[in-house]
Amino acid sequence: MQVLVTGGLGFIGSHTVVALIEAGYKPIILDNLSNSELFILDRIQDITHQHIPFYQIDCLDYLNLEQVFQQNKIQGVIHFAAYKAVGESVSEPLRYYENNLLSLINLLKIMPKYQVENFVFSSSCTVYGQTEMLPVNEQAPILPAFSPYGNTKRIGEEIIKDTVVAQRTLKAIALRYFNPIGSHESGLIGELPKGIPNNLIPYITQTAIGLRKQLQVFGNDYPTPDGTCIRDFIHVCDLAEAHVKALEYLQTQDKGLIDFVNVGTGKGVSVMEIIKTFEEVSGVTLNYTIAPRREGDITEIYADATKSKQLLHWEAKRPLRQALLDAWNWQKKLGL
Ligand code: UFG
Repeated sequence: MQVLVTGGLGFIGSHTVVALIEAGYKPIILDNLSNSELFILDRIQDITHQHIPFYQIDCLDYLNLEQVFQQNKIQGVIHFAAYKAVGESVSEPLRYYENNLLSLINLLKIMPKYQVENFVFSSSCTVYGQTEMLPVNEQAPILPAFSPYGNTKRIGEEIIKDTVVAQRTLKAIALRYFNPIGSHESGLIGELPKGIPNNLIPYITQTAIGLRKQLQVFGNDYPTPDGTCIRDFIHVCDLAEAHVKALEYLQTQDKGLIDFVNVGTGKGVSVMEIIKTFEEVSGVTLNYTIAPRREGDITEIYADATKSKQLLHWEAKRPLRQALLDAWNWQKKLGL
């Protein structure tokens, strides 16, 4: 089965391509390289020993995007391609709304023309905002987004829902990711932040290797046991496998299905626990300081992972220590 993976050279996309091949699918990668590197394609091919078709195309480019559907027998789409920097989205909202929503709309317009039914969308636990429900399940109210980025995920889910209900030609699952970390065990692919990382783990590994002077812990006065924020950190290879399971599930369902599924471990871990665990597994003492809270951060979120187990027969398997060790190995291979 041919599966189009938009954003297939990105962090989660590249790991999902590997998981798809391991499960017997034939992924086709589409990526505009705006936040990814071409060498990742070679690395995926090294890991899987397979040639993977690649198109350097922007999902906003409707005509070229449609040609990919004309040239292949695509039976499913996993749509990762999107901008994802929360802070940047606040200063450049139109760029975020245009890119994240129009690329989605283009795909949803093209898919029925080529009888492509199966659609998996990258959503985020950001749609829950600072929920009262911990662990949070999929029934929790969708709260106003903290950022234009978060809003594109909320609106994206609604666009898909309305389209599925109106057309009845599609089946779709939006996967609500918690915090993906780690890298493939080979150390050949992983997270490649451009410039100064926004996210905690790449900042930690870059500090550990000496690329950054000091990690700032954004706030230790939150109402949590150690005062730092709590998140649900999930190994990216587990997350990748959830996409394969979602695709398998969709194939057993009738057209007109739309569902939303958390993809997390179910366990909340604090920023300080991450630092301590990283120090243990890497043997490196991190230079960090306590800094003021970062604007827009929520205090605490972690998944109720029941639905993914029941519906997709998927649950996170890899322990946090392995995720941190894999992230560290990736950083060491990348070097400075
Ligand atoms: N943090 C630090 N120092 C850093 C970076 C992060 O202390 O240098 C803290 C943050 O304040 C936060 C935690 O580490 O408490 C996790 O921060 P990340 O930036 O790694 O992740 P977020 O939870 O903020 O964001 C992630 C995704 C977003 C998504 C969001 C949904 O990166 O795309 O989850 O909650 F929208």
